[in-house]
Amino acid sequence: MSQKNNYPKIAIDGPAGTGKSTVTREVSRRLRLKYLDTGAMYRAITLKLLREKVDLSDDQALEDILQRTVIKLNDKQEVFLNGEDVTEEIRGAAVNKMVSPVAAISRVRRRLVEMQRAIAAESGGIVMEGRDIASKVMPDADFKFYLDATLAERARRRWKEQNDKGIILSGEEVMAEIKNRDSIDSKRDDSPLTSVFDAIVIDTTSMDFEAVVDKIVDTISADLP
Ligand code: CDP
Repeated sequence: MSQKNNYPKIAIDGPAGTGKSTVTREVSRRLRLKYLDTGAMYRAITLKLLREKVDLSDDQALEDILQRTVIKLNDKQEVFLNGEDVTEEIRGAAVNKMVSPVAAISRVRRRLVEMQRAIAAESGGIVMEGRDIASKVMPDADFKFYLDATLAERARRRWKEQNDKGIILSGEEVMAEIKNRDSIDSKRDDSPLTSVFDAIVIDTTSMDFEAVVDKIVDTISADLP
């Protein structure tokens, strides 16, 4: 409880298109806590493996890359891969396609979870978002939230987000990509996407961004001194 008062650890999990990143960023801003987007870390290692054309079934090659790769995120959520700013590139189509298969590899997860726990340990309180934060990375989190929404709504949000960036995709393409990632993320053996029993589940389908942020911040504030 004393930890909670001074350095709350907050886990926010859920599938793609639930608004997790935008919501988590705003929650961290309002509560003045560090923010960590763990999906960006899986995206960065995926980019590295793609660039080096690593055969994902080659354990030795994978291990070698994992040892040589340094992923850093700054407070502006810019992502650096061995010092190079890859913030934009990790959101591209190539990474979108390969990130879930890469994230299903236990060796990769072990390394990234280790880094995520180290970041949490050094932080004075943190809001961390991903797929396995409450179940694996911070099972001792003081607050656990699971954001969800219907597939159709999640696809609509992702389509709009891409469209706003000038990336024109069909509704079907976006829906297929999300469905595919959902399936790989929830069926993998190692730390599948799941809502833990003590998580507060928020169905965001018909909620706007502000309402979701308010619900999370109000829940946390009510329990802090
Ligand atoms: O932003 P979006 O919801 O599209 O995905 P993301 O948070 O950037 O995560 C990209 C992918 O990384 C997910 O589809 C998962 O395959 C993987 N991931 C994971 O396995 N565990 C995490 N804690 C975070 C992401």
